Amino acid sequence: MTALPRHMLADAAATEKELDSIFSCLPSDSVGRVIEAMVHTVMAGGKRLRASLVLGATRLATGSDELPSGAIRVAAAYECLHAYSLIHDDLPAMDNAALRRGKPACHIAYDEATAILAGDGLQSLAFEILASSLTGASTELRVSLLELLAKASGVAGMVGGQMLDIEAEGRKMNFAEMKRMQEMKTGALIKAAVLSGGMIGGASSTLLEGLASYGESVGLAFQIADDLLDKNSDPKTLGKPAQQDAAADKASFVHALGFEAASAEADRLVNKAHESLSEAVGYATPQLTYMLDLADFTTQRQA
Ligand code: IPE
Ligand code: IPE
Ligand code: MG
Ligand code: MG
Ligand code: MG
Repeated sequence: MTALPRHMLADAAATEKELDSIFSCLPSDSVGRVIEAMVHTVMAGGKRLRASLVLGATRLATGSDELPSGAIRVAAAYECLHAYSLIHDDLPAMDNAALRRGKPACHIAYDEATAILAGDGLQSLAFEILASSLTGASTELRVSLLELLAKASGVAGMVGGQMLDIEAEGRKMNFAEMKRMQEMKTGALIKAAVLSGGMIGGASSTLLEGLASYGESVGLAFQIADDLLDKNSDPKTLGKPAQQDAAADKASFVHALGFEAASAEADRLVNKAHESLSEAVGYATPQLTYMLDLADFTTQRQA
């Protein structure tokens, strides 16, 4: 895997520690199997990009490397929601992928019914984490974070985008429809992670606007890079199957524009993310540099 930006490893480790502590509080007796299946995917590594974006945006908003209480729980919530989306994405009825994060996909390690329930369990857990008073933020802020995640993960975001992605198999989508699908299935959750971090850090409305624009560009660049890697990489490097998109006739920037132009578009989006966030912040800070490094990482990564 590409070297992660320096602080990303620390953010990933802190998020995993928080996830461990959240899982240690769940009842493990009679429902042990579904919890094991949840842990199988959510704790199987992964880049923890969404967690790093939450924490990076929080620090950008506070202007300090100290995290306000609750930020790490918000990061953990985004990783739970994301892991649920991966488990369901891999199901035979969806992408039918047997490998995830270098391990057997959840439905292979367990069974389809357990994988569906593990996804459901992770989704509920994400909302429980945000709603809990343990998250520390005011009730009003927690409700705003809940609404943001609900919208980004629901029919106007990830779920809607996944529906369009599945429907597009074998039918021609025009460029605008395909772009909208990519923004919904992947971009929405990435943008929401960035905004959540800004909100928990108390960002100004100018900074929130900059973060929204950054999140949109990075979210789309991230999915383009995922599609480029699907075309050019291999399962050993990716920890998940490769060359699946062409086989399933998926709509993507790579399919629509070709490899080189899709790659150039991802780079253009990363530059746009740099510009909008730098302009909103107005001057260089270490916290801004981290966000710009995370944007670069979305297209420079090897997995
Ligand atoms: C993969 O996401 C699914 C997409 C939305 C493209 P990631 O590439 O962030 O997966 P992990 O979390 O690192 O495993
Ligand atoms: C999935 O996109 C996006 C999700 C919402 C999970 P992909 O289907 O391309 O993700 P991978 O390549 O399986 O990780
Ligand atoms: Mg998919
Ligand atoms: Mg997939
Ligand atoms: Mg993919």
